Amino acid sequence: MVVIANRLPIAFDDDSDTWMPSPGGLVSALTPILQRTQGSWVGWSGVADRDFEPFAYAGISQVPVSLSQEDYEEFYVGFCNGTLWPLYHDSVRAPQFHRHWWRPYREVNQRFTDVAVSRLGPDDVAWVQDYQLQLVPRMIREAKTVHRIGFYLHIPFPPVELFAKLPWRVQILEGLLGADVLAFQSRSSRTNFAVAARRLAGAHGSSRRLEWQGRPIELQVAPIGIDTNVFGKMATSERTRVAARQIRAHLGDPDAVILGVDRLDYTKGIDLRMRAIQTLLERRRDLTGRVAFVQIAVPSREDVAEYRRIRADIEGLVGRINGDFAEVGRPPIHYLYRSVPFEELVAYYRAADVMFVTPLRDGMNLVAKEYVATRYDNTGALILSEFAGAAEAMTQAYVVNPFDVDGLADTLEEAIGTASDPGNPRMKALRRSVASHDVFWWADRCLAALDV
Ligand code: ADP
Ligand code: G6P
Repeated sequence: MVVIANRLPIAFDDDSDTWMPSPGGLVSALTPILQRTQGSWVGWSGVADRDFEPFAYAGISQVPVSLSQEDYEEFYVGFCNGTLWPLYHDSVRAPQFHRHWWRPYREVNQRFTDVAVSRLGPDDVAWVQDYQLQLVPRMIREAKTVHRIGFYLHIPFPPVELFAKLPWRVQILEGLLGADVLAFQSRSSRTNFAVAARRLAGAHGSSRRLEWQGRPIELQVAPIGIDTNVFGKMATSERTRVAARQIRAHLGDPDAVILGVDRLDYTKGIDLRMRAIQTLLERRRDLTGRVAFVQIAVPSREDVAEYRRIRADIEGLVGRINGDFAEVGRPPIHYLYRSVPFEELVAYYRAADVMFVTPLRDGMNLVAKEYVATRYDNTGALILSEFAGAAEAMTQAYVVNPFDVDGLADTLEEAIGTASDPGNPRMKALRRSVASHDVFWWADRCLAALDV
């Protein structure tokens, strides 16, 4: 199997001259699968204007694709993250349509295709990932006969009313329809795609099976999961227990710790989450000093203007709330703008009584699942946005509308009250659902459809 994704699972860090894990859910999900199947991974190194030879790392054969600085600006910052990302996330920010970003999108998709094709034999399966590479399925089909071409969309596919605005909507649909199997995080994404393909690209058939240019295309719903054992094991280790206790001690041993962990992205609803905290503290002055909020924000796409804007907004809010409610040495919000190593992330999950996950729209949200996987004692509460793919199965979470700031504050207050209860039936049910639909379940489902 050859996986083709925009990013390799590791990114080259120019400052330290070393490879570091890449951010985001796609990499978290696919790494354990490729380690098991011994496939190769075609992707970008994460730095522009650098060429790397193929190499092996973490048991995976890594095949780097180069992007120039111009590709980075027009393909990655531009079409991928200025046009497609907001459009596919319900247009929570206005997507930018620029004609001069389309050609680079096509060219970079062709480059990924050429590298993939050089690695693919006639019995191999090509598994293309995510919105950055939607033209690749058709390009591979035109270049070479392979056993199967699969495509997995990690983000939502938008309703046709929004998608139809894209000036290159037909080309994108035709690119995707080059696959044998198209898989989505949720039923609604699959339906949205089928509607768009019928209405705008002349496909026929149902939401499960389309026909296009005389070929059948299977449409699959396969919600992505996590490697629960890895999180469970790390959570129960003595080092993590000690680290979690230390985190709570550093926070002043509050009655409740509330945690947010996200890439700093406007789709994650971090700003409205901060407003909910502000509302709660205004209502319940007595909680000041007794409740600690921790927000870990992972730097992401800092060259995209909207990301710089949302960062400034969030940091302004944190400053204002801390200014209003802090006592000396006791700010209500502890804000970390950095990536944290896996061990530390798990220690934060273990230290948290309430996990606050409020995306305005999210393909899945793995952070919600990771938190649950670390709650081996059934303690803790998960607040989860109804607009995250994860909410489809995690019905036992405190499911919220992330736009409703007062409602968020109400739920927060309720969750704080129940989180330390070890008999919490919600957490037990959540743990069962996350464990039974883990990343291996997901991969088996996708790979069976691809006949791997
Ligand atoms: P997205 O794919 O939009 O980034 P997800 O919640 O699906 O959102 O996936 C995020 C992934 O990134 C998770 O696997 C999570 O463990 C990882 N991650 C999130 N925050 C951090 C952090 N501060 N440091 C390291 N890894 C992080
Ligand atoms: C999400 C997307 C991935 C992307 C990741 C990190 O998980 O679905 O395709 O790789 O975010 O974003 P970045 O732009 O840094 O690759």
